[in-house]
Order: sequence, then structure tokens, then C-alpha cells
Amino acid sequence: MEPFRHHVFVCTQEKPEGVTCCPSSGSWRVLQALQRELGSQGLDSEVQVSTCGCLGLCDEGPIVITYPEGVWYRKVKEDDVPEIVSSHLRSGKVVSRLEWSEAAAMKAMATEHRDHYRAMLKAKDEAGILPDDLYEITRGFMASRAALTALELDVFTAVGKGTSAEQVAQKIHANPRATEMLLNVLASLKLLDKRDGIFSSTAASARFLAEGSRDSARRSLLHTAHLWQRWSTLTDCVRAGTRVETRVRDEDWVTAFIAAMDRNAKERAGAVVKAIAPSGIKRMLDLGGGSGAYSIAFARAVPDLTSEILDLGDVIPLAQEYIRQAGLAGRISTRVGDMLRDPLGENYDLILISAICHMFSPEENQQLLQRTYSALAPKGQVVVQDFILEPSKIAPRAAALFSLNMLVGTQAGSSYSEPEYAAWLQKAGFSDVRRVRLPGPSGLMIGVRA
Ligand SMILES: C[S@@+](CC[C@H](N)C(=O)[O-])C[C@H]1O[C@@H](n2cnc3c(N)ncnc32)[C@H](O)[C@@H]1O
Ligand code: FES
Repeated sequence: MEPFRHHVFVCTQEKPEGVTCCPSSGSWRVLQALQRELGSQGLDSEVQVSTCGCLGLCDEGPIVITYPEGVWYRKVKEDDVPEIVSSHLRSGKVVSRLEWSEAAAMKAMATEHRDHYRAMLKAKDEAGILPDDLYEITRGFMASRAALTALELDVFTAVGKGTSAEQVAQKIHANPRATEMLLNVLASLKLLDKRDGIFSSTAASARFLAEGSRDSARRSLLHTAHLWQRWSTLTDCVRAGTRVETRVRDEDWVTAFIAAMDRNAKERAGAVVKAIAPSGIKRMLDLGGGSGAYSIAFARAVPDLTSEILDLGDVIPLAQEYIRQAGLAGRISTRVGDMLRDPLGENYDLILISAICHMFSPEENQQLLQRTYSALAPKGQVVVQDFILEPSKIAPRAAALFSLNMLVGTQAGSSYSEPEYAAWLQKAGFSDVRRVRLPGPSGLMIGVRA
């Protein structure tokens, strides 16, 4: 049985910098060209394309293999792709100038490569050399820090379409020598291009990292720069068992935080609304609603739904601006309050608690869910949206890491597991308690008031 007429494999095995491999010879560009070309020649439902690992023929890469014929192509360039698609995949005529059919030589090369690789691993092990993955984990912060510094200094806006390091240094009011060092690293990370000493933004950095583009994420990523400062206190937090950072939540901090929350929420809101199917819901309470992105998504999905956002005093003016921009000020109202202490109101059909419970201790969450129960109408539902850990608490990794994010940033917050959420909901009186899995590390816990 063949579900596709052809199955094409492109080797995309990454190797350490400086080691020849298919990606260093351009295999990712070949893969993209192949996908583009199949689409434009109307063949993408007949030809399946997959990436594959090293075949031991790295010096002859990029390697492309087509099945069912078993034709191996070597040294394939982006420009060769239209011919492979039209001649081979459309008309069945192999592109002989690229075909590599010396089976014995190929096998010998692959065997030599494998033996060499095994010998290298053995020698490294015997010499007690730190394995690459351990090295990467401990030094991973360097690339991240360079990118965050570039965002803080707004380097990507300053670089634009083509600028020398000296001009960038002038624009960002920084030291020319240090600026050049930073720009070189950004170019090595492929966040900038460098040609003849002139730096320019890549398409992705101009779109997402510079100010002024429609999809700019710079302001929300500045929140990550703030988190970096907190994370540098992790060792002391682990000793103390709680946050030790003393920085106050100033305007800069809150603006970047809410921009980051807004970006995350907009990515997930569609899936959350779909999972809840809120057609009968008229009154919603959005606890700690942040930018209002979820209320906005629910209001857009259900024409007669109104939502009320309860949040802290420094966030409500920002929420009002997001709501005004969405044109929903008439249906989404806001209220300053503390969800753990102030009255929540009553008779809501839906109370959304999105990205909230991780800020609080188990006792505070129990108390919050009890207060939520009383604020719902009969048959009303509470929806908790958050990272949900597996019972082992080591997966998903993003949720486990987020626990530390709460250790460095809160008094007693953490990511929690499904059994923990279920126990709190049941103790608060909720029935029909269930988990809804969403794509990614976060999910929903839902309960219904009797
Ligand atoms: C992580 S954000 C989540 C925002 C939004 N629910 C979302 O999912 O995008 C947490 C929000 O809760 C608010 N918050 C924190 N503690 C609160 C409290 N005690 N009472 C009300 N709001 C609070 C914060 O100001 C912030 O807007
Ligand atoms: S990296 Fe592609 S064959 Fe080795």
C-alpha cells in the first residue's frame, strides 16, 4: 500500500559548528524550495516530504532520496529543485546529473563515517570530556542574554536595512567596540545579516524584533528580559523557598508583562473558546483578566455575552485600552479588585481563571475556587486555564520550568498537576470535573456548580 505516489527524504541532520553536514551545505533551503515547488506544481498531495537524520554521506550533501524508486541525489542545490519536481516527481524521469548510484562507494563512505563517529564518541568518553548536551544546557543563557540585550537596546530597530556598527552604536547611545561585538554575535545567531561590514535585519528580526512592524513582539519580549533578572536570583530562592527579588512592579514592568500576557493569550484564546463552546453563556467574569484578550475572544464568539474583568489597579487602565482598541468597551467592563479578598459578584454563567492559579499557594487556590463557586449561577462553570503538570511533575518541561518562574517571582506560586486541580475543584463543591487538553503545555480544568 502506498498512500503517496512518492516519498522524498531530505537530510537535515545538524552537526556542531564547523563540521560539514547537509544543513551546512544548504539542505534546509532545499527542503523549503521542495515544499514551495510541490505546492506550485500542484503535487503536494501526491508527494510526501520528510526530513531524515545523517546517512553518513555528509561530504556529498545535501542528500535527497526518493522512494519508491530508491533514487539518491547528492549535492542538491535550491536551484536544482524545480527540475527534480518537474522531471522526476511529475514525469518519472530521473535527473541523472544529480543521481548518485555507486552503491559500493556509498556504502563504504557511510561505513567509514559510522566507524569514525563511534571511535570519536569512545575517545571522548575515555578522556572524560563533558558531553555536548551538558555543555549546551549550562551555557544556553549566553545566546539568550545577547538577544535580550539587543531587545533592551532596541538594536533591531537601529540596524534596519543596512548600518555599520558605529552608526548603530550612535543610535543606541552605546560603546562602538562593544556594539560591534554584540552585532557579530547576533549575526552568528542568524538574527542579523552581515555583509562587507554592514549589518542588516533578517526578514524575521525586522518583522518580530524591531519596533514599528505590525507583528513586533519586542515589547512583550522585554518581559523576558525582566524575568532574566529574576532568574539570576534562583539559587538564593531555592535556599530561601520563596522569591528574594525586591524590584517593585513599576510601570515599565507591568506594561511589558501585560504585553507578554496579551501575546500568549491571543495565541491560545481561539482554542479555549472552541473547547468551551460558549453559545449559551451570557455573563462572564474574567478573574485577573490582564489585557482582556480572553474576554475579547469570548465576546467576539458570542454576540450577547458580556464580560467583567477584575484585576489590580495598575493593570485595569491597560486592559481598558486593549478593549477600546478591540471596539468592545460596551460589552466588556472592568473592575479594580483583589480576587482573593474582594467580593467577586454573583450569578455568572462562566468564570475564567486564566494563568492565575500558578501565582498562588495551594491554600490560596482552594480559597479562590470556593469563592468562585459561590459567585456562579446554578449550572455555571469555572474554567481554569494554566500549565498542567503530569502527576510526576517532570513533564511537560515548559510547565516544570514555569514552576521555577513562579518560585523566583512569587511568594508561594508553582505549576500544579491535574490531581491537585481536581482535588481543589471537588472540595469546593464542583461536579463534572474534567481536564481538556489543548495543544502546547497548558490546558483547561473545568468544573460545574450544582
Ligand atoms: C499571568 S496574568 C494572566 C492574565 C490573563 N488572565 C491571561 O490569561 O492572559 C495574571 C493577572 O492576574 C492579575 N492579578 C494578580 N494578582 C491578583 C489579585 N490578587 N487580584 C486580581 N488580579 C490579580 C495580574 O495583574 C495579571 O493581570
Ligand atoms: S548530515 Fe546529511 S548525510 Fe550526514
